Amino acid sequence: MAEECALCQGRGLVFKDNYAMPCRCAKEKMLENLYRQSCVPPAVRNFTFNSFDFKYYPKTKTDPDKRFNYLESARLTYNAAMDFVKNFPEKNGTISGLVFTGQVGSGKTFLACCIANALLERGHPVLFAVVPDMLDRIRATYDAGKQMGYSEQEVMDAARTIPLLILDDLGAHNYTDWTRNKLYSIINYRLNYCLPTVITTNINLENLEAHLGERTTSRIFQMCRPYRLLVDVDIRMLQGQ
Ligand SMILES: Nc1ncnc2c1ncn2[C@@H]1O[C@H](COP(=O)(O)OP(=O)(O)OP(=O)(O)O)[C@@H](O)[C@H]1O
Ligand SMILES: [Mg+2]
Ligand SMILES: [Zn+2]
Repeated sequence: MAEECALCQGRGLVFKDNYAMPCRCAKEKMLENLYRQSCVPPAVRNFTFNSFDFKYYPKTKTDPDKRFNYLESARLTYNAAMDFVKNFPEKNGTISGLVFTGQVGSGKTFLACCIANALLERGHPVLFAVVPDMLDRIRATYDAGKQMGYSEQEVMDAARTIPLLILDDLGAHNYTDWTRNKLYSIINYRLNYCLPTVITTNINLENLEAHLGERTTSRIFQMCRPYRLLVDVDIRMLQGQ
Protein backbone atom coordinates (compact mmCIF):
# COMPACT_ATOMS: atom_id res chain seq x y z
CA MET A 1 0.00 0.00 0.00
CA ALA A 2 1.21 3.54 -0.79
CA GLU A 3 2.51 5.47 2.19
CA GLU A 4 0.07 8.03 3.59
CA CYS A 5 1.04 11.68 3.12
CA ALA A 6 2.28 13.13 6.43
CA LEU A 7 0.99 16.61 5.56
CA CYS A 8 -2.65 15.76 4.83
CA GLN A 9 -2.98 12.16 6.08
CA GLY A 10 -4.27 11.15 2.65
CA ARG A 11 -7.12 13.72 2.52
CA GLY A 12 -5.45 15.67 -0.32
CA LEU A 13 -6.21 18.93 1.50
CA VAL A 14 -4.32 21.01 4.05
CA PHE A 15 -5.69 23.85 6.15
CA LYS A 16 -4.08 27.26 6.41
CA ASP A 17 -5.77 30.11 8.30
CA ASN A 18 -8.98 28.05 8.25
CA TYR A 19 -8.86 27.76 4.44
CA ALA A 20 -8.63 24.37 2.74
CA MET A 21 -5.93 24.17 0.10
CA PRO A 22 -4.82 21.31 -2.12
CA CYS A 23 -1.92 19.45 -0.55
CA ARG A 24 1.38 19.11 -2.41
CA CYS A 25 0.74 15.38 -2.75
CA ALA A 26 -2.51 16.03 -4.65
CA LYS A 27 -0.65 18.13 -7.21
CA GLU A 28 2.05 15.49 -7.51
CA LYS A 29 -0.60 12.81 -8.07
CA MET A 30 -2.33 14.94 -10.70
CA LEU A 31 0.98 15.49 -12.51
CA GLU A 32 1.82 11.80 -12.36
CA ASN A 33 -1.55 10.96 -13.95
CA LEU A 34 -1.06 13.59 -16.64
CA TYR A 35 2.39 12.19 -17.42
CA ARG A 36 1.10 8.62 -17.58
CA GLN A 37 -1.68 9.58 -19.99
CA SER A 38 0.70 11.71 -22.08
CA CYS A 39 2.89 8.71 -23.07
CA VAL A 40 5.96 10.97 -22.72
CA PRO A 41 8.76 8.40 -22.24
CA PRO A 42 10.52 8.62 -18.85
CA ALA A 43 13.88 9.11 -20.59
CA VAL A 44 12.83 12.49 -21.97
CA ARG A 45 11.10 13.96 -18.95
CA ASN A 46 14.19 16.00 -18.17
CA PHE A 47 14.30 17.65 -21.62
CA THR A 48 13.63 21.29 -20.81
CA PHE A 49 14.15 24.64 -22.49
CA ASN A 50 16.93 25.29 -19.99
CA SER A 51 18.84 22.20 -21.05
CA PHE A 52 18.52 22.93 -24.78
CA ASP A 53 22.12 23.55 -25.85
CA PHE A 54 22.83 25.83 -28.84
CA LYS A 55 26.44 24.68 -29.20
CA TYR A 56 25.39 22.02 -31.73
CA TYR A 57 24.18 24.59 -34.25
CA PRO A 58 27.18 26.29 -35.89
CA LYS A 59 26.87 29.83 -37.14
CA THR A 60 29.57 29.10 -39.71
CA LYS A 61 27.10 27.03 -41.75
CA THR A 62 24.21 28.47 -43.69
CA ASP A 63 20.75 27.11 -44.31
CA PRO A 64 20.36 25.89 -47.91
CA ASP A 65 17.80 28.61 -48.51
CA LYS A 66 20.68 31.04 -47.65
CA ARG A 67 18.67 33.15 -45.26
CA PHE A 68 19.94 32.02 -41.86
CA ASN A 69 22.95 30.31 -40.42
CA TYR A 70 22.36 27.13 -38.38
CA LEU A 71 22.54 28.98 -35.07
CA GLU A 72 20.03 31.63 -36.15
CA SER A 73 17.75 28.91 -37.45
CA ALA A 74 17.94 27.05 -34.11
CA ARG A 75 17.23 30.27 -32.19
CA LEU A 76 14.17 31.02 -34.31
CA THR A 77 12.91 27.47 -33.79
CA TYR A 78 13.57 27.56 -30.06
CA ASN A 79 11.84 30.95 -29.69
CA ALA A 80 8.82 29.69 -31.62
CA ALA A 81 8.60 26.73 -29.23
CA MET A 82 8.86 29.05 -26.20
CA ASP A 83 6.18 31.37 -27.61
CA PHE A 84 3.94 28.41 -28.27
CA VAL A 85 4.17 27.39 -24.60
CA LYS A 86 3.71 30.99 -23.40
CA ASN A 87 0.55 31.48 -25.47
CA PHE A 88 -0.98 28.06 -24.82
CA PRO A 89 -3.92 27.59 -24.99
CA GLU A 90 -4.72 29.99 -27.81
CA LYS A 91 -8.06 31.68 -27.91
CA ASN A 92 -10.42 32.93 -30.61
CA GLY A 93 -10.05 29.94 -32.88
CA THR A 94 -6.41 30.60 -33.77
CA ILE A 95 -4.23 27.54 -34.12
CA SER A 96 -0.52 28.08 -34.15
CA GLY A 97 0.92 24.60 -34.30
CA LEU A 98 4.52 23.94 -35.24
CA VAL A 99 6.35 21.58 -37.52
CA PHE A 100 10.03 20.91 -36.89
CA THR A 101 12.05 19.58 -39.79
CA GLY A 102 15.72 18.65 -39.96
CA GLN A 103 18.00 15.70 -40.35
CA VAL A 104 18.47 12.76 -37.98
CA GLY A 105 19.68 13.81 -34.54
CA SER A 106 19.11 17.54 -34.91
CA GLY A 107 17.01 18.08 -31.78
CA LYS A 108 13.48 17.96 -33.20
CA THR A 109 12.12 15.46 -30.70
CA PHE A 110 14.12 17.12 -27.92
CA LEU A 111 12.39 20.45 -28.55
CA ALA A 112 8.96 18.84 -28.91
CA CYS A 113 9.57 17.21 -25.51
CA CYS A 114 10.53 20.60 -24.02
CA ILE A 115 7.08 21.83 -25.08
CA ALA A 116 5.34 18.72 -23.72
CA ASN A 117 7.13 18.86 -20.38
CA ALA A 118 6.53 22.58 -19.89
CA LEU A 119 2.79 22.26 -20.58
CA LEU A 120 2.37 19.10 -18.50
CA GLU A 121 4.01 20.93 -15.58
CA ARG A 122 1.33 23.60 -16.00
CA GLY A 123 -1.36 20.92 -15.84
CA HIS A 124 -2.31 20.76 -19.55
CA PRO A 125 -3.15 17.36 -21.03
CA VAL A 126 -0.70 16.48 -23.81
CA LEU A 127 -0.39 13.33 -25.92
CA PHE A 128 3.06 12.43 -27.20
CA ALA A 129 2.41 10.07 -30.11
CA VAL A 130 5.33 8.50 -31.95
CA VAL A 131 3.61 8.10 -35.32
CA PRO A 132 4.87 4.61 -36.28
CA ASP A 133 4.08 3.31 -32.78
CA MET A 134 0.60 4.80 -32.83
CA LEU A 135 -0.13 3.20 -36.20
CA ASP A 136 1.18 -0.15 -34.89
CA ARG A 137 -1.10 0.14 -31.87
CA ILE A 138 -4.07 0.63 -34.15
CA ARG A 139 -3.05 -2.24 -36.46
CA ALA A 140 -2.72 -4.53 -33.45
CA THR A 141 -6.45 -4.12 -32.73
CA TYR A 142 -7.21 -5.77 -36.11
CA ASP A 143 -5.63 -9.00 -34.94
CA ALA A 144 -8.63 -11.00 -33.74
CA GLY A 145 -6.37 -13.36 -31.80
CA LYS A 146 -5.12 -10.59 -29.53
CA GLN A 147 -6.88 -8.86 -26.66
CA MET A 148 -5.29 -5.41 -26.66
CA GLY A 149 -7.30 -3.83 -23.86
CA TYR A 150 -8.08 -0.81 -26.06
CA SER A 151 -9.90 -0.21 -29.33
CA GLU A 152 -8.95 1.58 -32.52
CA GLN A 153 -11.63 4.14 -31.72
CA GLU A 154 -10.00 4.91 -28.37
CA VAL A 155 -6.55 5.45 -29.89
CA MET A 156 -7.97 7.63 -32.66
CA ASP A 157 -10.21 9.66 -30.34
CA ALA A 158 -7.33 10.34 -27.95
CA ALA A 159 -5.22 11.70 -30.84
CA ARG A 160 -8.12 13.69 -32.28
CA THR A 161 -9.30 15.38 -29.11
CA ILE A 162 -6.32 15.93 -26.77
CA PRO A 163 -5.68 19.66 -26.19
CA LEU A 164 -2.12 19.30 -27.49
CA LEU A 165 -1.03 16.48 -29.79
CA ILE A 166 2.63 15.91 -30.54
CA LEU A 167 3.13 13.79 -33.64
CA ASP A 168 6.72 12.66 -33.37
CA ASP A 169 8.54 11.17 -36.33
CA LEU A 170 6.01 11.75 -39.05
CA GLY A 171 7.67 10.13 -42.03
CA ALA A 172 10.40 7.58 -42.51
CA HIS A 173 7.88 4.85 -43.24
CA ASN A 174 5.89 3.63 -46.20
CA TYR A 175 2.61 5.42 -46.42
CA THR A 176 -0.24 3.25 -47.62
CA ASP A 177 -3.76 4.53 -48.25
CA TRP A 178 -4.66 3.16 -44.84
CA THR A 179 -1.95 5.16 -43.03
CA ARG A 180 -2.75 8.28 -44.98
CA ASN A 181 -6.43 7.98 -44.08
CA LYS A 182 -5.69 7.58 -40.37
CA LEU A 183 -3.44 10.62 -40.33
CA TYR A 184 -5.88 12.63 -42.40
CA SER A 185 -8.68 11.80 -40.00
CA ILE A 186 -6.65 13.01 -36.99
CA ILE A 187 -5.32 16.18 -38.64
CA ASN A 188 -8.65 17.11 -40.18
CA TYR A 189 -10.48 16.74 -36.86
CA ARG A 190 -7.90 18.89 -35.08
CA LEU A 191 -8.15 21.57 -37.73
CA ASN A 192 -11.94 21.63 -37.50
CA TYR A 193 -11.85 21.94 -33.72
CA CYS A 194 -8.94 24.41 -33.63
CA LEU A 195 -6.73 22.07 -31.62
CA PRO A 196 -2.97 22.63 -31.95
CA THR A 197 -0.50 20.00 -33.10
CA VAL A 198 3.29 19.94 -32.92
CA ILE A 199 4.95 17.74 -35.54
CA THR A 200 8.50 16.50 -35.95
CA THR A 201 9.59 15.04 -39.27
CA ASN A 202 12.65 14.09 -41.28
CA ILE A 203 10.79 14.77 -44.49
CA ASN A 204 11.54 18.05 -46.26
CA LEU A 205 8.42 20.15 -46.49
CA GLU A 206 8.62 20.03 -50.29
CA ASN A 207 8.34 16.24 -50.12
CA LEU A 208 5.62 16.05 -47.47
CA GLU A 209 2.82 15.94 -50.00
CA ALA A 210 4.36 12.95 -51.81
CA HIS A 211 4.27 11.02 -48.51
CA LEU A 212 1.06 12.20 -46.89
CA GLY A 213 -1.07 13.25 -49.84
CA GLU A 214 -2.39 16.68 -50.74
CA ARG A 215 -5.31 16.91 -48.34
CA THR A 216 -3.33 16.19 -45.16
CA THR A 217 -0.33 18.29 -46.23
CA SER A 218 -2.52 21.26 -47.04
CA ARG A 219 -4.11 21.07 -43.57
CA ILE A 220 -0.73 20.77 -41.86
CA PHE A 221 0.43 23.96 -43.57
CA GLN A 222 -2.75 25.70 -42.47
CA MET A 223 -2.27 24.63 -38.83
CA CYS A 224 1.48 24.60 -38.30
CA ARG A 225 4.31 27.05 -38.89
CA PRO A 226 7.46 25.33 -40.19
CA TYR A 227 10.87 25.62 -38.50
CA ARG A 228 14.16 23.95 -39.25
CA LEU A 229 16.88 22.54 -36.99
CA LEU A 230 20.12 22.04 -38.85
CA VAL A 231 23.31 20.47 -37.53
CA ASP A 232 26.62 19.49 -39.00
CA VAL A 233 26.75 16.14 -37.22
CA ASP A 234 24.04 14.01 -35.59
CA ILE A 235 23.89 15.22 -31.95
CA ARG A 236 23.51 11.59 -30.79
CA MET A 237 26.89 10.80 -32.32
CA LEU A 238 28.50 13.82 -30.69
CA GLN A 239 27.07 12.97 -27.28
CA GLY A 240 28.07 9.33 -27.67
CA GLN A 241 31.73 10.24 -28.17
N1 LIG B 1 19.67 21.19 -28.47
C1 LIG B 1 20.05 20.12 -27.77
N2 LIG B 1 20.72 20.28 -26.61
C2 LIG B 1 21.14 19.20 -25.92
N3 LIG B 1 20.96 17.92 -26.31
C3 LIG B 1 20.31 17.70 -27.47
C4 LIG B 1 19.82 18.79 -28.24
N4 LIG B 1 19.20 18.28 -29.32
C5 LIG B 1 19.30 16.96 -29.23
N5 LIG B 1 19.97 16.60 -28.12
C6 LIG B 1 20.32 15.21 -27.72
O1 LIG B 1 20.43 14.44 -28.90
C7 LIG B 1 19.50 13.37 -28.87
C8 LIG B 1 18.85 13.24 -30.23
O2 LIG B 1 18.01 14.36 -30.47
P1 LIG B 1 16.53 14.20 -31.02
O3 LIG B 1 15.96 12.90 -30.57
O4 LIG B 1 15.80 15.43 -30.68
O5 LIG B 1 16.81 14.12 -32.58
P2 LIG B 1 15.76 14.19 -33.77
O6 LIG B 1 16.04 15.43 -34.54
O7 LIG B 1 14.40 13.99 -33.25
O8 LIG B 1 16.25 12.93 -34.63
P3 LIG B 1 15.41 11.84 -35.45
O9 LIG B 1 15.16 12.45 -36.78
O10 LIG B 1 16.33 10.66 -35.54
O11 LIG B 1 14.16 11.53 -34.70
C9 LIG B 1 18.51 13.68 -27.77
O12 LIG B 1 18.04 12.54 -27.15
C10 LIG B 1 19.31 14.54 -26.82
O13 LIG B 1 20.00 13.72 -25.93
MG1 LIG C 1 13.01 12.45 -33.41
ZN1 LIG D 1 -0.80 15.33 1.15
